[in-house]
Amino acid sequence: MLLSQRQTNPNIPKHIAIIMDGNGRWAKQRFLPRFVGHQKGVNAVKRVVKRCGEIGVESLTLFAFSTENWKRPEEEVNKLMGLFLMALQKEVSKLNDNNVRLRVIGDRSAFSEEIQAHIEKAETLTAKNTALTLNIAANYGGRWDIVQAVKAWQAAHPDQSAADLTEAELSQYVCLADQAVPDLLIRTGGEQRVSNFLIWQMAYAELYFSDELWPDFNEASIDQAVASFQSRERRFGKTSEQVASLC
Ligand code: FPP
Repeated sequence: MLLSQRQTNPNIPKHIAIIMDGNGRWAKQRFLPRFVGHQKGVNAVKRVVKRCGEIGVESLTLFAFSTENWKRPEEEVNKLMGLFLMALQKEVSKLNDNNVRLRVIGDRSAFSEEIQAHIEKAETLTAKNTALTLNIAANYGGRWDIVQAVKAWQAAHPDQSAADLTEAELSQYVCLADQAVPDLLIRTGGEQRVSNFLIWQMAYAELYFSDELWPDFNEASIDQAVASFQSRERRFGKTSEQVASLC
């Protein structure tokens, strides 16, 4: 992995966020249990992490488990937890060897103590790595994030009232405040929804929807999404002429 050689191409998104959808359908098409789709999904995660490192993406945030996913059948939730634990045990040293910093965002208090301990260990081990930052969103919801940010802001400013709160202030308390905001959101699996993912942070993200099911997503799929991103004009509320005059 060329993770230490960040390319200088300004058109590479700094931060890609991905809603990994379609594991269950991938398995169903093959008359396999849903869990096999999730297992194959881990291989897709590895491919995408590698490719993002190669092309110089700074941050990659993957939606692994939403606050709503607890409503799935107990057996599937347990298997997903087992997969998460297994990935933490097996893959973290490889991430570390490749200079990847791992972070987990979301309310981790709902996870088993064993998973929480592995998350902390992995974050500590990789904290100083300087190539790609891989954020795993687990028991994460965008609305939860905004509420936790307001609470954290209030705790840090006990003498101030909500009337003093600004967008810029609150931006410092949402998850991933230390990283560039996501500039490209990819969702696989054919659905075209944001599903309560990073709703504050993605206010100006370009959206890219792919019909590919997550276990099929690969290096070429990432390249295609990035090419689509590069073909777009990002105006941030300005006119096309204003944007052109800045070049
Ligand atoms: C969505 O597919 C996928 C998930 C809810 C879980 C994603 C988990 C993984 C890719 C594996 C674990 C990841 C890490 C980082 C260890 P779905 O089940 O909603 O698919 P469907 O829409 O076809 O039913």
